[in-house]
Amino acid sequence: MPLTPDRVNRQVLLNARPVGFPVDTDFKMVEALVPEPALGQLLIRTIYLSLDPYMRGRMDATASYAKPVQLGSVMEGGTVGEVVASKHDQFEEGELVLSANGWQEYAISDGQGIRKLDPSIAPVSTALGVLGMPGMTAYVGLLEVGELKVGDTVVVSAASGAVGAVVGQIAKIKGHRVVGVAGVQKKCTYVTDELGFDACVSHQSDTLAVDLAAVCPDGIDLYFENVGGKVFDAVLPLLNQFARVPICGRIANYNMTSPPEGPNGVPHLMGLILIRRLRLRGFIVWDHADSAAEFIREVGGWVRSGQLKYREDIVDGLGNAVTAFQGMLRGRNFGKLLVRVSDDKTR
Ligand SMILES: NC(=O)c1ccc[n+]([C@@H]2O[C@H](COP(=O)([O-])OP(=O)(O)OC[C@H]3O[C@@H](n4cnc5c(N)ncnc54)[C@H](OP(=O)(O)O)[C@@H]3O)[C@@H](O)[C@H]2O)c1
Repeated sequence: MPLTPDRVNRQVLLNARPVGFPVDTDFKMVEALVPEPALGQLLIRTIYLSLDPYMRGRMDATASYAKPVQLGSVMEGGTVGEVVASKHDQFEEGELVLSANGWQEYAISDGQGIRKLDPSIAPVSTALGVLGMPGMTAYVGLLEVGELKVGDTVVVSAASGAVGAVVGQIAKIKGHRVVGVAGVQKKCTYVTDELGFDACVSHQSDTLAVDLAAVCPDGIDLYFENVGGKVFDAVLPLLNQFARVPICGRIANYNMTSPPEGPNGVPHLMGLILIRRLRLRGFIVWDHADSAAEFIREVGGWVRSGQLKYREDIVDGLGNAVTAFQGMLRGRNFGKLLVRVSDDKTR
């Protein structure tokens, strides 16, 4: 069959495993034929592709909580798309769905693990952000893993991002003092002025530790960790007795090729964990799948009422996905990063 423009499925493949920061040649854009659905299958056109920090981990071969993407395979990723052909009795042409079709324009599915979306309830893009995986990560990480308690002072890093913005706003809705840590000043201003955090400090400042101490005069009871590195170093001395630290991510370390220079900080950390009875707990959102319905009900309600705001950073075209992904690992995204792969007719 000829590869005419209307039959081209552009795909981004993992071409090489990155050494440190991912470079352009670690990815490869190829053109394949748009596949035909067989009986029991549907063909989905990608509208939005979600770009998320976890994808950096999937590019490595090292053992993790999920299998790595194989070399030469399509990069994995959550997607919102439209059913454009269906030979499946539960899906019709024109329906909008949440699936995990990866970095490509079209994909075949047997319907497993797909959720239908109703654009009259919320913009379909939110299924990848505030009402999707990142929003649920914030919800379960703060309330279940972090066990948010009355009177807690909460600090969250990557505070303007997909997860951090939701963490801080939920804590504000529940009446807490909330401090964000973010990169550039415009992100800090957004976090305080638009999202209502009590304060926000920049991790780019040379005086981060002093700045953070100044806005946490009573110490920190719950630190929602998205970043690691020097932000964690600044937080650690401020943690109060019995503080909880849900370890959600450590993006500052994702491109590390060797351990950081300097003295080994583990003995000091172990000492503080013991003396202050700290509880550091890693978690993966899917361990908390039982909370999905409660999350949608509660956070969906706050989004609908305008109590909880969200911001999307939308990049147009699959051809810009690699640059956008690299930018996210350097803090260039401002809000939930999405690629608009094709037209969203619902907007
Ligand atoms: N455990 C789970 O199940 C789970 C699920 C989803 C996400 N996560 C984790 O949650 C974290 C946030 O994810 P997200 O989707 O909300 O991403 P995001 O915050 O929307 O985007 C990533 C942000 O990380 C910050 N960043 C990047 N490099 C950094 C560095 N070297 N030092 C400090 N900050 C840096 C940047 O913000 P600034 O410009 O403000 O620095 C960047 O905008 C990530 O670590 C991710 O891996 C975990």
